[in-house]
Amino acid sequence: MPETFRAIAPGRVNLIGDHTDYAGGLVFPMAIDRSTVIEFLEADATSLVSADVEGDGWLRYIEAVRGLVPGARAVSGRVATTIPIGAGLSSSAALEVAAALAFGFRGSVVELAQLSRQAEHDATGVPCGIMDQLCIAAGRAGHATLIDCRSLELTHVPVPDSVKVVVRFIASRTLEGSEYATRVAECGAAEAIVGPLRDAALRDLVAITDERIRRRAVHVVSENARVQSFAAALSSFDFGLAGEIMLEGHRSLAENFDVSTAAMDRAVREIAETPGVYGARMTGGGFGGCVVALCEPDARVDGWVVEASAGARVVRN
Ligand code: GLA
Repeated sequence: MPETFRAIAPGRVNLIGDHTDYAGGLVFPMAIDRSTVIEFLEADATSLVSADVEGDGWLRYIEAVRGLVPGARAVSGRVATTIPIGAGLSSSAALEVAAALAFGFRGSVVELAQLSRQAEHDATGVPCGIMDQLCIAAGRAGHATLIDCRSLELTHVPVPDSVKVVVRFIASRTLEGSEYATRVAECGAAEAIVGPLRDAALRDLVAITDERIRRRAVHVVSENARVQSFAAALSSFDFGLAGEIMLEGHRSLAENFDVSTAAMDRAVREIAETPGVYGARMTGGGFGGCVVALCEPDARVDGWVVEASAGARVVRN
């Protein structure tokens, strides 16, 4: 019997730091206990099937990855996932990272993430940042990952047992054809005026006369600061403060960045008013997807409790 393997890649939820990665900013996601698994063996020709991913849209990610992995080996196997698709929990990034590992990618977690991000660009044309792929490649059980998207430095920060993270699905979405690419361009327009947003202070942004571009920049600059204060609040068990920072972050994504929806705003308000909830915000690219909440362990919030999980890996069956 030939040896069979499993390439496993988790989904991710972003605790804070959205729409900052492509501007060289800070993000604070965690890998979750839902994953995509490719069970495979080496073969003469590549053939992958999936029982629970509908349609064949997923194959374009596989093809994009295969084209990028140097000396990709041929594998035969099946793809299965417990990550809801189109929910903003990085099902496509998980598929890319799992596929790269199945095709025999060798290199650092940063290189794995860079290749997988390139595959996303090639497959969909969405000019995404590196957060999803890097969190998925590098996650550590029990920790969220603070990522500096400029230096690609990673800091694993423990998620205390005395809080639980709940995710509520609001609406399916795809970033393809959304205003995601417009936001990336708007941040570029702001940087053309004030230089890297990562280095800018809020007071520098008065130089931006276009009101819409200025709001985009205000979001990125303030969100970078929120990532740092949130990570510090979590580490010092100041969950009340952490929750307030999440709510502020949500307001900024809604009002400055225009990537929330009425349903997401309602869900954030409703969840935040629930006893035992410290704070909530939309998570990921927006225009639908999920809301994430930080709660006391016995808070009663509709949604899934997610555990901070290990990053991608290959295991022998
Ligand atoms: C999507 C992208 C990420 C990031 C988020 C917003 O998930 O893939 O690179 O830009 O949106 O934070």
